[in-house]
Amino acid sequence: MINQLIINMKRTFYAVIALALSLTACQKTTKIEASIPAKIVDGAVVLETPAREPGQESALAMACDPIDTVRIAFVGVGGRGTAAVQRYTYIDGVKIVAFCDLDSAKTTHCNEIITGRGLPKASEYVGEEAYKDLCARNDIDLVYIATDWLDHVPIALCAMNNGKHAAIEVPAAMTIKECWDLVNTCEKTRKHCTILENCCYDFFEMAALNMAQHGLFGEVYHVEGAYIHFLSDGWDRSETWRLDYNMANRGDNYPTHGFGPICQLLDIHRGDKLDYLVAMDTPSYNGKAAAKKFRGVDECLDGDHTISLIRTEKGKVMEVQHNVYAYRPYSRMYQLTGTEGFANKYGQPGISVKGINGHSYVSQEQFDSLMVAYTPDFVKEIQDKAKEVGGHGGMDYIMDYRLIYCLRKGLPLDEDVYDAAEWSSVQELSRISLENNSMPVKVPDFTRGDWNKVKGFSYAF
Ligand SMILES: NC(=O)c1ccc[n+]([C@@H]2O[C@H](COP(=O)([O-])OP(=O)(O)OC[C@H]3O[C@@H](n4cnc5c(N)ncnc54)[C@H](O)[C@@H]3O)[C@@H](O)[C@H]2O)c1
Repeated sequence: MINQLIINMKRTFYAVIALALSLTACQKTTKIEASIPAKIVDGAVVLETPAREPGQESALAMACDPIDTVRIAFVGVGGRGTAAVQRYTYIDGVKIVAFCDLDSAKTTHCNEIITGRGLPKASEYVGEEAYKDLCARNDIDLVYIATDWLDHVPIALCAMNNGKHAAIEVPAAMTIKECWDLVNTCEKTRKHCTILENCCYDFFEMAALNMAQHGLFGEVYHVEGAYIHFLSDGWDRSETWRLDYNMANRGDNYPTHGFGPICQLLDIHRGDKLDYLVAMDTPSYNGKAAAKKFRGVDECLDGDHTISLIRTEKGKVMEVQHNVYAYRPYSRMYQLTGTEGFANKYGQPGISVKGINGHSYVSQEQFDSLMVAYTPDFVKEIQDKAKEVGGHGGMDYIMDYRLIYCLRKGLPLDEDVYDAAEWSSVQELSRISLENNSMPVKVPDFTRGDWNKVKGFSYAF
């Protein structure tokens, strides 16, 4: 009797403790630091999707009126912008109208470049907000933005709101809020907003994409991309803002070179969509050393090596890596695995396919003939000129050529605003995952449900 009483008392005691613990668990909330409201749903971070405003429509496969001569203005003519100006002097159907920078020596230098090539002098705008006067002009079709990362979006929004198309260097945006700002403004103004992701136009990537589209690899289910580039001894000379950004921001701060080409491989928002992302990083070692050496501070939030895994709606797995601190050769990885083959770009480029070879790469001779057979026809037509003009071996020229070709013909651009948003979103999504013990973070559907309407990535002609 007494024993039974003790057992019952114990049961009651444990039940009360369990109830108290479960109440505490329910009350426990994790505050998610994000650029737009976010909450945890079913173990994943979910960011709010803003509603479309009245009059705003999808910009999927958006085409605009053809432009006979594309009048172009460059904002940000440092290292990358000046190289673009140089390339554009070789592109037909454009007129260079204006340059804008913080530094008048750079705009003057650009004028020297174009007049040296026999082109008329362009207007010069100098100052932090001088792009606003430039965008207010009525003789510009395209604003080409190559400033440091934090100024990309304000300038692109100003361009579109003033009736100009915007082309933005990589990453196009640095936060999810900025990604939505680009999408919403493009959808409202019906002006193009593209990301200048030159790595989509490298020869191996374009041939491998074509092979994948022709079924050479079967069903492609695993893809990898990266930006692995030893930069950390040069931050006293170039891109000084980049170290400042990395010191202050954890996450994959430069995802699009690796991510863009593999998104095209998997037809992202053209039949599949990014579902969720999980990230891990290492401590900062060489990043911290660079922070100390160049800024005299002990902290760098960006881990030396960051890895993000992304699962797609169809269950495929994508991996993207970032490391600008390691003593190792440059690599954007670019690997794909399918049910019937494999392609790899770095260090030994190679292809393996069922029927030709199952255990190792095809011979050099077979590789070369596959590359010739699957290089897209439009690339074959311009590749000699691309290599001559240059820009990372020619891919920059091909990117510019395609942008101007599509604008002149009134075609949808190869990379639309949803690409710009999806590829750039990896920065903040990876940071959120890292700050929450690698918790999954749902990737916003920037198409708001339209991701399955266009079937497959293609170049428009
Ligand atoms: N696609 C590629 O291969 C590649 C390569 C290098 C750089 N990039 C990208 O290009 C962009 C520029 O990089 P960079 O190496 O040329 O940097 P940079 O520092 O050499 O040039 C940036 C320029 O922008 C100017 N600028 C800054 N704010 C401005 C404003 N409000 N208005 C006008 N001008 C402004 C600066 O004065 C500077 O001249 C970055 O987004 C970078 O990520 C891309």
